[in-house]
Amino acid sequence: MTATIIDGSAVAEALRNRVGEAAARLQAAYGKSPGLAVVLVGEDPASRVYVRSKVKMTTAAGLRSIEHVLPADTSEAALLALVAALNADPEIDGILVQLPLPAQIDADEVIAAIDPAKDVDGFHPVNAGKLATGTGGLVPCTPLGCLKLLKTVREDLAGLDAVVVGRSNIVGKPMAALLLAESCTVTIAHSRTKDVEALCRRADILVAAVGRPEMVRKDWIKPGAIVIDVGINRVDDPDKGPGKTRLVGDVAFAEVSEVAGFITPVPGGVGPMTIACLLANTVTAACARRGWAAPAL
Ligand code: GUN
Repeated sequence: MTATIIDGSAVAEALRNRVGEAAARLQAAYGKSPGLAVVLVGEDPASRVYVRSKVKMTTAAGLRSIEHVLPADTSEAALLALVAALNADPEIDGILVQLPLPAQIDADEVIAAIDPAKDVDGFHPVNAGKLATGTGGLVPCTPLGCLKLLKTVREDLAGLDAVVVGRSNIVGKPMAALLLAESCTVTIAHSRTKDVEALCRRADILVAAVGRPEMVRKDWIKPGAIVIDVGINRVDDPDKGPGKTRLVGDVAFAEVSEVAGFITPVPGGVGPMTIACLLANTVTAACARRGWAAPAL
């Protein structure tokens, strides 16, 4: 079998277009399109790249992007003061504080300070609790994007065996909650899991979110499974020349493609969906704050 590739770039583009249409309706009704505040503290190069990309996509979809870049030695109190100001600002619909934060700042304190109604990352304990209890709220962007990709393959996921490899608050745990809400039978595997390969071989849906390059191999895969690769790992690529690198996922793409039914590539799979879902969450938050019904995005 050769797996069908799930084209995350195309699915993300279609989602960004729907977001753009919803933003235009809000603009027509209120004279302002939804506003997303992105806060970056320090110089982390990967974070700078992410933030630049988020800002570009936000404006391209017709949303307002408000960027705050703070020095690496910013105090927690100063960041909390900025979050409080953004919470109180009626022109801001979504707030994203880019992680990781410098060591002097407690990220949990900052996340907890964001108004849950503006928490477009879905990381606030109120939103995490709503997801766990199936009572709405804003959902973390990467797992939301993974679910949307799964739904392009199969609308009804009920009864499928799903294995999520990775238990982070950002991806693994919310992914498991979303799959449970779809009536999948969900297992979370992690670094202390016994015989992870055998567990994965039972999975109709396998989501890999561990951050270990090409860890998931061909013999971990049930024939025909849907494989979602959340990993984005930069590795040396001596074939390209000295010092050259390339991006790989947590899944050994070429060999797993021989067994899986569907697979997301890296790049061009989950990555573009994360930012598209951030924009979707910003529109969702803007509608909720204005008492509009959530648009179908
Ligand atoms: N850093 C890496 N991924 C993310 C994300 O989804 N949200 C935020 N705020 N920071 C990140």
